Amino acid sequence: MNAAALILAAGAGTRMKSSKPKVAHEIMGKPLVRWVVDAAHGAGLSKLVAVVGHGREQVEPLLKDVSVVVQEEQLGTAHAVNVAREALLGECDSLVVLTGDSPLVTSETIAKLVSLREERAAGVVVLTMQAEDPTGYGRIVRDAEGQVAAIVEQKDCTPEQALITECNSGFYCFDTKLLFDALTEVSTDNAQGEYYLTDVLAIARAKGREVLGLLAADKDECLGVNSRRQLAQATKSLQRRINGKHMDAGVTFWDPDTCWIGPDVEIAPDVEILPQTIIVGSSKIGSGTVVGPCSRLTDTVVGADCVIDETVAIEAIIDDEVECGPRAYLRPQTHMCKGSKAGTHVEIKKSTIGEGSKVPHLSYIGDCTMGSGVNIGAGSITCNYDGVKKWPTVIEDDVFVGSDTMMVAPVKLGRHCLVAAGSVVTKDASPESLILARARQVEKEGWNEGK
Ligand code: UD1
Ligand code: CA
Repeated sequence: MNAAALILAAGAGTRMKSSKPKVAHEIMGKPLVRWVVDAAHGAGLSKLVAVVGHGREQVEPLLKDVSVVVQEEQLGTAHAVNVAREALLGECDSLVVLTGDSPLVTSETIAKLVSLREERAAGVVVLTMQAEDPTGYGRIVRDAEGQVAAIVEQKDCTPEQALITECNSGFYCFDTKLLFDALTEVSTDNAQGEYYLTDVLAIARAKGREVLGLLAADKDECLGVNSRRQLAQATKSLQRRINGKHMDAGVTFWDPDTCWIGPDVEIAPDVEILPQTIIVGSSKIGSGTVVGPCSRLTDTVVGADCVIDETVAIEAIIDDEVECGPRAYLRPQTHMCKGSKAGTHVEIKKSTIGEGSKVPHLSYIGDCTMGSGVNIGAGSITCNYDGVKKWPTVIEDDVFVGSDTMMVAPVKLGRHCLVAAGSVVTKDASPESLILARARQVEKEGWNEGK
C-alpha cells in the first residue's frame, strides 16, 4: 500500500503540568509516542514521519527509527501537518495522521483507515468514537444524510453541538494531495486562534470530496492523553489489553488487575502470575514458572519451572528450575544457573551462581564467580569493595561456606573446601581444606555467679 504516516508530537501538553513534554511521558516504561510509532510500524506503511517541537531534545531521541521534522512554533495541528509538506507531498497517495498522545491506537485500525480510503477513493476517513464523556474532544457534525460535514472543537461548539457524543479520535487517513491543498485554506478564526487540522474535513466536503467517519469498535482505542488522569486511564486500558492477550495465550493470573506486564514482555504458556507483580522491559518468562506475589522484573530472562517469589530483578538471567525469594534482589549481570537458589533477604550483583548452588538466607554476593554445588551459610557476605575499588571473589565447585562468613576480596575458595562459621577469610583457601578464621572462644568459669 502506498501510504505513509505522520505523527504529531510537537505540543507542550500544558494540561499535564509537567516539565517533561507530554509525548515523552511513559506507560509501563514506554513513552506515549513510542506506542503510536510501534502501532504505525505494525501497519506496514512505507514511510513514517514525526513532527517534534516543544522539548524536542527530549522527544527526538525517542524517534530514532522515523524521519523527524521540526515545528518551531506550535500554532495548531494543521500547522504541524503543514511543516511536513516537503517530506510527504508527492511521496504517498494516502497519509495517515496520528496524534502522539494516543497510545492505544492499533496497527489493525491504521490499516483499516487506509484500506477504506483507498477502496472508496475518499478525501478523508476519520476514526470516530461514541464518548461517554466527550469533554475536550472535537465533535463530529453529520449532515441530514448522516455524512460527516465537519468537526467542531469543544471550545467552538454551540450548546447543541456540545451535546454530540460522537467525537474525533484524532486518527485520520487523507488523500495526501487534497490534504496539502486544503491546508492552505485553514485559518486561525476560532476560539483558540490555532490552525485546526479538523477544519480540513469541511474544506474537503466543500471541494466535493467524500468524508467518511469510521466508528471505532473499541472506544478505548481513541483515548487521548491530555492530563495525568487520562494517563492513568490509558495505562489501565493497556494493562487490560496486554494481560488479556497473555491469558488468551495460556498464562494464568490470579488477579490481572494488580499485575502490570510491559508491551514487549514474552511469557510462555503455563506461566502463573501471582498478584502485585510487575514485569517490564525486554523480560521473558519460561513455561511452568510462577512469578509473584509482589515481584518486579525488569529486562530479566527467566527459564522454565522457576519460582520467583517476592523478588526484584534487574537485567538478570535466571535459568531453569531456579528458586528466588521471598525477598531476593538480583541486580544487573546476575546469572542464576540451573537449579540454583537466591533465598530470603539475599542480594546478588554481577555474579554467577553455579548449577545447584544455594544462597538461602541474608547474604550479599557481589562480583563473584561461584561454581556448582556450593552452599553459602546464612549471613555470609563477599566484601567486594575496599572503599576505592571492587574486587572479585571466586568460589569453586562444592565449597561449603559456614554462616556469617566474610569473604574479603580478592579471594578464592578452592574446590570442596569448608569454611567454618564466623570466619573472616582474607587469604585464598586450597581445595579440600578446612578454613578456620575466627577468634577462639574464651571461657571464664563462674564469672557471672552472684552478680
Ligand atoms: C485534538 C483534535 C480533537 C480530537 C483530539 C483527539 C484538533 C484541532 N483537535 O484535540 O478534535 O478530538 O485531538 O485526541 O486537531 N500538536 C503538534 N503541534 C501543534 C499542536 C498539537 O504537534 O501545534 C500535537 C500534540 O503534541 C498532540 C496532538 O498534536 O500530540 C494533538 O494536540 P492536542 O493539543 O492534544 O489536541 P486536542 O486538544 O487533544
Ligand atoms: Ca490530545
